[in-house]
Amino acid sequence: MMMLRMSKLYKNISSLKLLSNHLKNGAKNGSRVTLVQQQLLLQCRSFSDGGEQTSFSHQMSAWNIYSYGCDQMTLSKTTRVPSVLDPGDVLVDVHAASVNPIDVMMRDGYGEKLINLIRWQLGSKHFVGSEFPLILGRDFSGTVVSVGKNVISFQPGDEVFGVVGAHNQGSHAQFCVASTKELCHKPSTLTHIEAASLPYVALTTWSALCSVGEITQQKAPNLRVFIQAGSGGIGTFAVQLMSAWGAHVTSTCSTDAIDLVRSLGANVVIDYKTQNEEDELMQMDGFHLYLDVLGKKPSRNVLKNWCNAKYVTIKTPFLEDTDTHGIPAGFLRSAGSLGCNILENLKNGQSYRWAFFVPDWRALKCIGQLVDNGQIKPVIDKVFPFHQLPHAYNHVEAGHSRGKTVIDVKCTE
Ligand SMILES: NC(=O)c1ccc[n+]([C@@H]2O[C@H](COP(=O)([O-])OP(=O)(O)OC[C@H]3O[C@@H](n4cnc5c(N)ncnc54)[C@H](OP(=O)(O)O)[C@@H]3O)[C@@H](O)[C@H]2O)c1
Repeated sequence: MMMLRMSKLYKNISSLKLLSNHLKNGAKNGSRVTLVQQQLLLQCRSFSDGGEQTSFSHQMSAWNIYSYGCDQMTLSKTTRVPSVLDPGDVLVDVHAASVNPIDVMMRDGYGEKLINLIRWQLGSKHFVGSEFPLILGRDFSGTVVSVGKNVISFQPGDEVFGVVGAHNQGSHAQFCVASTKELCHKPSTLTHIEAASLPYVALTTWSALCSVGEITQQKAPNLRVFIQAGSGGIGTFAVQLMSAWGAHVTSTCSTDAIDLVRSLGANVVIDYKTQNEEDELMQMDGFHLYLDVLGKKPSRNVLKNWCNAKYVTIKTPFLEDTDTHGIPAGFLRSAGSLGCNILENLKNGQSYRWAFFVPDWRALKCIGQLVDNGQIKPVIDKVFPFHQLPHAYNHVEAGHSRGKTVIDVKCTE
């Protein structure tokens, strides 16, 4: 036994030396870290972490689901650490990840048909035969462990934050693989917990307001923007972004969240619990953009007429339609509903648009700069330790969030 331990110890010390030489030579030659180096790095990490396990086991803790529609989530301690299979990907040691409503919905099968179609069309290398066991979690903050051979902007040890597409394995695990198109260096002023709260909601907001809604920093000071549900994950970010750019912001929330939403920069806050939201909106000047976060379209016209005002919704029936009716029929139904809404708004010279989360490292970089400039701050509702992830899902599912729910992946007790 003693001999066995001595030999493992010797093997790890040799690995450490070998790694050190590899890294020195790599740095001299300007070359990237190779697969051998990654494995050595991980082996040395497991050695330096101490404990009985003196050789890298390629195993990690991850929360898995094995089927949809049952709220049973299993913490596996023997999930394989994902490999960097694409040259543009990086392996990230996840420090923190957030829980979004989409995680809870995906646990219940939301988007199953379309996401699986994308998964198999893209020939996702991280799944064999079936999507199960499936790891949920769409965003993260952590440290780069290893990089694919085409990656030049990141190296092991870099602190990053980013997202993983819904067709990939997620971030509710100790490690995840992400494309360099989906991540960015972490804002230096934020902790990993704070940074993990931003990417998914920030990129969805960016897609809705900037890409689809066509708002830019230059145009914003002349715009009146309505943000529904200013107290939630999306709302707390959207209100701050528009306020930082100088737009006039109106938002809604329930009574206890009014101070929060005002503190984020909203000029007008409507308490939807005690006021009639639509009556209040009708008394105001029309809006240039209405961001529908909850799928609650007002029955009356609150947008400006004939100046290309936009109604942008992130609550579309698209995935529900494809889940219920299959891909072709679901597409047709969704197209029909979109078409009707577009026509209805056209008569007032307005546009009706759908927006979706889009991974975009350039947007993430701008968001990081706004954060480092102190113009946007993360709003964190609650932090759960990694082993209490199901409680975090229950918390998000219960609604009434005030900002974001985050998982501290490094906190295992
Ligand atoms: N299209 C996409 O790609 C995409 C991406 C991300 C999210 N989404 C969708 O966007 C929605 C919001 O996401 P989120 O992360 O912001 O959710 P969230 O964090 O759960 O926030 C929802 C917020 O809405 C408030 N609320 C509930 N009813 C309201 C009402 N009638 N008026 C005003 N506020 C109300 C809730 O607080 P109270 O109940 O206490 O008032 C809560 O603060 C989700 O349904 C999600 O599926 C879509």
